[in-house]
Amino acid sequence: MMKIFALALLILSIALAAETAPDALKYTPAGEMVLPAEYREWVFLSSGLGMTYGPAAAKARQGGPLFDNVFVNPVSYRAFLKTGKWPNGTAFLLDIRSSESHGSINKDGHFQTTLSGLEAEVKDEHGEWKFYDFPTANGSPKANGKLLPATASCYSCHSKNTAVENTFVQFYPMLLEVAQRMGTVKKDYVP
Ligand code: HEC
Repeated sequence: MMKIFALALLILSIALAAETAPDALKYTPAGEMVLPAEYREWVFLSSGLGMTYGPAAAKARQGGPLFDNVFVNPVSYRAFLKTGKWPNGTAFLLDIRSSESHGSINKDGHFQTTLSGLEAEVKDEHGEWKFYDFPTANGSPKANGKLLPATASCYSCHSKNTAVENTFVQFYPMLLEVAQRMGTVKKDYVP
């Protein structure tokens, strides 16, 4: 009987640890971010259509509008639902895809095709926000992303125009409602 109880306790504590442990990110010795291979299985926040900026936007002008798919690591997503804040160790992947029209049965809409860019944003273990770029060629991203310098446009646009911390929660409808309820929308945010 005691044994069964101890076993049940052990299983419960393993389950709890899995629930709260951060989805650990890995870095190369040179400080590059290792692409989390399973990021497409993370929590999907939203797709923007034609919302890309900078070099990705220039690419888009040559074809149809680009889609960008936003993913966040599951542990941080669950923490956000409870607190309206991103814990240290949170990572977002912005999976940018070309689009096509008039394929198969599609006439007027746009559907996603090859990967055209892959970018990441991380709130590191000290609570600092960092941006990474994974160079993409022929639809495949490099395995490691390079850290972008603080002078890159990512930092200023994301610190000025975002609704919650450094992130565009105003474009993730399920999360904006959480942030409003928890009172974590920035005071100077203009809808
Ligand atoms: C002019 C403003 C602007 C610039 C510059 C910009 N972004 Fe963003 N970013 C956005 C917007 C708007 C979104 C919301 C998602 C969408 O577009 O669908 C976003 C979303 C993201 C996300 C998803 C997490 C979040 O913060 O909401 C990542 C990751 C990201 N951008 C990375 C980058 C990187 C890396 C750079 C620099 C190379 C960059 N961004 C430059 C406006 C910008």
